[in-house]
Amino acid sequence: MERPGGRVLVIVPTYNERENLPVITRRLREALPDADLLVADDNSPDGTGEIADELAGRDDHIHVLHRPGKQGLGAAYIAGFRWGLERGYDILCEIDADGSHQPEELPQLVDSVGRGADLAIGSRWVPGGKVVNWPLRRELLSRGANIYVRLMLGIPVRDATAGFRAYRASTLRKIGLDDVESQGYCFQVDLTLRTVRHGLRVTEVPIRFVERTVGASKMSGDIMKEALWRITVWGFQGMDRRFRRRR
Ligand code: GDD
Ligand code: MN
Repeated sequence: MERPGGRVLVIVPTYNERENLPVITRRLREALPDADLLVADDNSPDGTGEIADELAGRDDHIHVLHRPGKQGLGAAYIAGFRWGLERGYDILCEIDADGSHQPEELPQLVDSVGRGADLAIGSRWVPGGKVVNWPLRRELLSRGANIYVRLMLGIPVRDATAGFRAYRASTLRKIGLDDVESQGYCFQVDLTLRTVRHGLRVTEVPIRFVERTVGASKMSGDIMKEALWRITVWGFQGMDRRFRRRR
């Protein structure tokens, strides 16, 4: 039976997640039995891509997109969204492979879209949202990034960097993916900003974010630098637009 809202695709980006992938796929298959999964692997040196192929061989709800090398989270998701839009899915979801996002909370995001949201974000920074085991340094980075986003971009979203989401397919078609340049985690802010600027409905659902216990984060200085300069550029572009409209 289909959920209200239509056919669901869950995209799972992976880079060196060999131990986490079987766990997250099993939990996703239980939480959303009708949904299809797409693992978007960037040719992980630890063999995650082969494990994804094995999982897909045993379950026709699981698909794999092999990419030639590490090109960033944004590029992996864009490729995954294209794959899903070409195949007619109605709702396209994002989730980290490392267990930080709970598959059991994904139906709430999907149902928000089913009830009318154009984008549902699993949010750490709305009342009821929680983070577990995150080092203070990461919590401050995420809170600081979101404060800077609200200051520079003026969008009414508390967790614009979140990577746990459900997009209505029409949202992705309207905002357009062809000119997205963001490569790293600022891709999340990029698409949030596009969705808000198109006047579409964004809902935040409180979630529990749990730091990974296996493997390592891919957050890096370059990812932070890219986010900082892009958010700054988007901010000035927005101010320029508002200024011109006033004259
Ligand atoms: N294919 C691919 N290519 N996957 C990637 C890449 C890449 O270049 N970089 C990261 N990933 C995958 C990881 O394998 C994991 O499944 C997911 O993306 C998140 O990566 P992490 O490295 O675990 O992210 P994090 O825990 O540091 O960051 C979290 O917070 C960010 C800021 O709020 C995540 O929730 C991010 O989505 C979020 O933007
Ligand atoms: Mn993580």
